[in-house]
Amino acid sequence: MTDAAIRAVIDTDPGIDDAVAILYALASPAFDIVGLTTVAGNIGIETTTRNAGRILALAARSDIPVVAGASAPLSRTGFDSAEIHGDDGLGGVGFPEPLVPARGDAVTWLAEQLEAAPIGTLDILALGPLTNIALLLRDRPSAARRIRRLIVMGGAIHEPGNVGPRSEFNIAADPEAAELVFSAGLPTVLIPLDVTRKVRADRGYLDALRARDTAAAAASANLIEAYFQSASGGESRPLHDPCVMLFAENPALFSTEDIRIAVDTGVGSDAGALLAGESGGPAVSVALGVDAPAALELLAARLGVSAG
Ligand code: BDR
Ligand code: CA
Repeated sequence: MTDAAIRAVIDTDPGIDDAVAILYALASPAFDIVGLTTVAGNIGIETTTRNAGRILALAARSDIPVVAGASAPLSRTGFDSAEIHGDDGLGGVGFPEPLVPARGDAVTWLAEQLEAAPIGTLDILALGPLTNIALLLRDRPSAARRIRRLIVMGGAIHEPGNVGPRSEFNIAADPEAAELVFSAGLPTVLIPLDVTRKVRADRGYLDALRARDTAAAAASANLIEAYFQSASGGESRPLHDPCVMLFAENPALFSTEDIRIAVDTGVGSDAGALLAGESGGPAVSVALGVDAPAALELLAARLGVSAG
């Protein structure tokens, strides 16, 4: 996989949709995944870290390191999302145990990777609260400046939120971290609910995944099935985190606008809401449109690639 164009670290809190996204990136020949850094979010850090190792074991990619990161937001108490992602964070879907123990200190490890790689060659695909990335910016700013693209699932621009009227989980889980990251001037792409809610799996999509007959496609179908059972309402489910990988692999599937973004760091029900156009800081590239059928097709095709 070393000839792949996209060298990336996945910063993640698996998480049902994180797991689908990771399986996609591992299966796609477009990516060279250097490591998984974990963060508390959908569930506590011990479980997100264990799940990262379990996903790698299922994909027969335990050669990729897992490095544990922040166990709590910068200055708040974390959320509990067990009602969506299950007590084990992966909806009770069967995964093997990790084959290799996780390492510690995601921020130091991330900085080392960025400093060892030529500048502007390593992407960070951020699927959870932005705590690790904020700590990287705070503690190792010159390493952070070497990131090629920081692609973040989070926030809502014109859409309602999913944890507050205007706030989305990943940003609301650590608004101070998000504010620090969005104001830093890194080459950031934001993938908000405005597009992830358009990239939806229905039961026909699960059948199509199962027909692909690979471990990654079967596990993804089981994960999305668990998502159907735990979340209420609707005949389909949004595939939030896989949209980060879809953007990374094929940005032409999305339309973007450059928007200055501030974050509501108050304590009300909209803590973590994005305030578009209200920052004096640098603009962030925000995905606001997506070719959803083509995105779903690419995801299914990649999950259907046989290993080896
Ligand atoms: C985001 O929140 C998490 O629950 C999901 O994994 C995704 O990253 C969607 O709002
Ligand atoms: Ca996530």
